[in-house]
Amino acid sequence: MSSPSESLLDRTPVIPVVVVEDVAHAVPLARALVTGGVRVIELTLRTPAALDAIRAIAAEVPQILVGAGTVLGADHAKRAHDAGARFLVSPGATPSLLDALVSTGLPFLPGTATVSEVLAVREAGVHELKFFPAEASGGASYLSAVASVVPDVRFCPTGGITSVSATSYLALPNVGCVGGSWLTPRDAVAVGDWDRVTRLAAATLSLR
Ligand code: 3PG
Repeated sequence: MSSPSESLLDRTPVIPVVVVEDVAHAVPLARALVTGGVRVIELTLRTPAALDAIRAIAAEVPQILVGAGTVLGADHAKRAHDAGARFLVSPGATPSLLDALVSTGLPFLPGTATVSEVLAVREAGVHELKFFPAEASGGASYLSAVASVVPDVRFCPTGGITSVSATSYLALPNVGCVGGSWLTPRDAVAVGDWDRVTRLAAATLSLR
């Protein structure tokens, strides 16, 4: 495992963004990622199973850094922290959501999609952000333009990114990693095809 002080953006080229429908899938899925060399996982708080999945992975797969995604407010942030999440990711960033993220004491990536949103979060002292929804908001060319005017902010773009488009993001100076759900396809997870998840994870290591 990387050092705890290492930036979230520098741990792996691709953070797997995962929707878990069945808590029984959580541990084998996390183990499949670790076998493929990916030691970070973001469980989105979009299903009833998400918090239990975080709890199970935190307890049983210590090799992976488990975080919570789709954090929409203070309640999500607190419950994810209590479940064992070690980082938090939000799709947007209101002042109260930022306060809630800060108050957990965990590393976090607040979502932004425009330069004004980036500046607002930067004014709050945060310099590592999520860019969401990346493809729909202008993609790599948009982030490249942002790098020219706000060079001291780095991003994890997420949303619509594929194993092919990831490389153009990862080539940018203001991108540390990307997020994506393609490492854990729903059909593979549904049938427990963990070897496929391991292969998809391993393939991301050479993207940067
Ligand atoms: C996210 O939560 O960041 C996105 O839903 C992941 O986007 P993707 O499914 O398009 O990779």
